Amino acid sequence: YQQFNRKNYNLPPVVFHLFPFVGSAISYGKNPVKFFASCREKYGNVFTVVMLGRRLTVVLGARGNKFVLGTKSAIFNAEDAYRDFATPVFGKDVGYDVPNEVFMEQKRFLQFGLSTTNFRAYVGMIEDETQHYIQTNFIFGAVNSREEWSTFDSNYVMSEIIILTATRTLHGTEVREKLDGSVARYYSDLDGGLGPINFLFPHLPLPSYWRRDHAQRELSKFYISIIRKRKADTSGDFENDLMAALIEQRYRDGTPLKEHVIAHLMIALLMAGRHTSSATASWILIHLAANPHIANALYAEQVQVYRSPDNTLRPMTYDENRQLPLMNSVIRETLRIHPPIHSIMRYVRQDIAVPVVIGTPPREIFNATDDITYVVPKGHHILASPAISQKDPQIWRDASSWDPYRWTDPKGVAAEAGRVYESEAAEENDTKSEYIGVGSDSPYQPFGAGGHRCIGEQFANMQLAVIIGTFIRNFELRVASIPEHNYYTTVTLPMDGYIQFRHRKID
Ligand code: HEM
Repeated sequence: YQQFNRKNYNLPPVVFHLFPFVGSAISYGKNPVKFFASCREKYGNVFTVVMLGRRLTVVLGARGNKFVLGTKSAIFNAEDAYRDFATPVFGKDVGYDVPNEVFMEQKRFLQFGLSTTNFRAYVGMIEDETQHYIQTNFIFGAVNSREEWSTFDSNYVMSEIIILTATRTLHGTEVREKLDGSVARYYSDLDGGLGPINFLFPHLPLPSYWRRDHAQRELSKFYISIIRKRKADTSGDFENDLMAALIEQRYRDGTPLKEHVIAHLMIALLMAGRHTSSATASWILIHLAANPHIANALYAEQVQVYRSPDNTLRPMTYDENRQLPLMNSVIRETLRIHPPIHSIMRYVRQDIAVPVVIGTPPREIFNATDDITYVVPKGHHILASPAISQKDPQIWRDASSWDPYRWTDPKGVAAEAGRVYESEAAEENDTKSEYIGVGSDSPYQPFGAGGHRCIGEQFANMQLAVIIGTFIRNFELRVASIPEHNYYTTVTLPMDGYIQFRHRKID
């Protein structure tokens, strides 16, 4: 981080808006990705948006992502941006309610629960839960015929299956058993605290806020009671789940985690993974329904790897699932054009200059010379939107088309993304300011980057591969068209999740 003379810099251009306080909130709320793309055309990669009284500086492009996500937390701070919104949902003393270095240690503890050894055990559990869900809801329910097409709502079904499988694996059998009753209701009340409205107005006296707070307290008590039972039980039956891993962890000074911290970390992890994964699963099913040839190729991949001598498909394994090229490309490509999180935010704690390679002011705005760039002042929020670089037509061939094969085509992604780095030399010559901290220049960052990067990526990939694999083994799917994005929800869901299915005919 270099000192700079503020007088040599401009503030980023402010996006034109009609209403002073409201600013661009409506255009952003309706479709943030479209809004950012149109601002980028007018103002370049860096611009400030007024939004309900806040000033939010948006920094776009692959290098912009790295700048926002890779700059250290003393400058771009996540707690200040998310605390009011997240703490009532997750609970006290975890995540954004503690200083960054404590949260980073908590993330390390959580990672112990997300180990490969655990994942090997989880695959069978997820396949069982998904198959059981299908048998209960798809065959013995309203639909009986193997020939007729019927309909289901992938948004609803995927959200159910994700919470069932995430609790069964990460939270253990005690929580899973209660999921048909009070626990499911409490999680749904916690969801009521995660809408965009909560983000903008975290302290309104709304009934949904009281329900959220009550649900958080009850869940916390419930998890603490399980932790106590487990501590008293020495049978060792729980060794593979997250709670078991957290009970074992110690802070650097040797103290164990307090019970309420374990409880809140478990709630936080479930909330972080739940909607992101279920939105992704829903988009995947919709694209497979719209592209039966790819769904069939995915089925063929299952047959190739899992066919038993008696011609049935044997259960999946973690290690074999990791080697399925098409399945992995389908997940990756879906996250490219439908990243569940479109806006990643930080609070600016110190003035900082934007590196020249990210965005010099368009000349028509400032009559700028090449060595003048912007300063983002303390007090702004700063926002990265990897959704923009992931669909940038300058980087990706047929940027908006869903094409899983681009990831395995030798001339595909590497060549496409490589163009971004063409002017690497420019970065080296950039003496005005420099990138700080860690991060990645990749235009593809659905899981974020830097210190706050997702720790659930492998879990999500594992969970998605099993669920999608199980659906594709059971069903043929079809849909007339790909729905629009629904940006009114906190994660980006398909506006309409309805797709048709019938039981797969096996030759
Ligand atoms: C952070 C995306 C699944 C746990 C993040 C971030 C993104 C993201 C973009 C960065 C947020 C920021 O920088 O402010 C996703 C996507 C998922 C997914 C697209 C699924 C497809 C999961 C799952 C878990 C999880 C399954 C838990 C098992 C976390 C945690 C963080 C995180 C703990 C760290 C937050 C921080 O350090 O501030 N995720 N995530 N995520 N995610 Fe995920």
